[in-house]
Amino acid sequence: MALITSKELFEKALKGKYAVGAFNVNNMEIIQGITEAALQEKSPFILQVSAGARKYAKTVYLIKLVEAAMEDTGLDTVLHLDHGEDFEICKQCVDDGFTSVMIDASKLPFEENIRETKRVVEYAHDRGVVVEAELGKLAGIEDAVNVAAADATFTDPDQAAEFVEKTGVDSLAIAIGTSHGAYKFKGEPRLDFERLEKVSALLPGFPIVLHGASSVPKEFVDFCNQYGGAIPGAQGVPEEMLRKAALMGVAKINIDTDLRLAMTGNIRKVFAEQPEVFDPRGYLKPAREAIKNMVAHKMRDVLGSSGKI
Ligand code: G3H
Ligand code: 13P
Ligand code: ZN
Repeated sequence: MALITSKELFEKALKGKYAVGAFNVNNMEIIQGITEAALQEKSPFILQVSAGARKYAKTVYLIKLVEAAMEDTGLDTVLHLDHGEDFEICKQCVDDGFTSVMIDASKLPFEENIRETKRVVEYAHDRGVVVEAELGKLAGIEDAVNVAAADATFTDPDQAAEFVEKTGVDSLAIAIGTSHGAYKFKGEPRLDFERLEKVSALLPGFPIVLHGASSVPKEFVDFCNQYGGAIPGAQGVPEEMLRKAALMGVAKINIDTDLRLAMTGNIRKVFAEQPEVFDPRGYLKPAREAIKNMVAHKMRDVLGSSGKI
């Protein structure tokens, strides 16, 4: 039971043609729901902490909660910084005991992204911590109305290969049409699998990361809306596309929105059906159970990671 890096997890995932789920954590119930699912499914997993999570819960609470979950379940996990905005925050998290950090300098020009990423890689590797970087802009495919626009937005495969070589980064998030949040596609969901194929061909055996990979299941959206939610038209990445990506070199699949939907729908249900409930445990317990079930389903039926530990 320990905090580990993702190095071995990704090597095994790439060989076994499955992906490891990286789940965003913000509080105890989310951490417990995910780790209980992993225990049940005997699945590897990553817990990741965003800037929003640090602001909401404070890093120290999240670290201690993750450590408690490891002690309770006897599992190993990766404690990962999600979308680290600069060198300083990455350094802080390395110093705090994270085993993996993401430097997201994707908004910077190519050469500057390389420079910033390399700086983080040097600091982190010296301390046994692995690094994820990002190249390209996360945006729905319909934002790129033609090939020229797609080329300007999505990850250029040749640049991806050059980036990995020059930075020494351990994994790379690429843009092929996924986006963060619950509204990923206006029409039919579509990802640029040709682009993914080119990237994996140029980087054989290298772990590719897919951000914005929640499926936003229709039943979750309907469930939320049925109990007073207002998220019409929410749409995510179909599960079969994620399975396909896992066969094509994607070793890490990021999920946050689906956790939010699972939790919120079930809290809404208690509020709507049992207005007399005012003990937070009365609604946080079913919310935690819903997270466990959703994550177990992902591991078993989408990522293919069940039974891999
Ligand atoms: O990358 C986006 C994640 O869903 C984290 O979002 O910054 O609101 O926690 P957040
Ligand atoms: P979703 O919004 O699709 O869950 O993506 C989460 C993510 O990429 C976190 O970095
Ligand atoms: Zn992300």
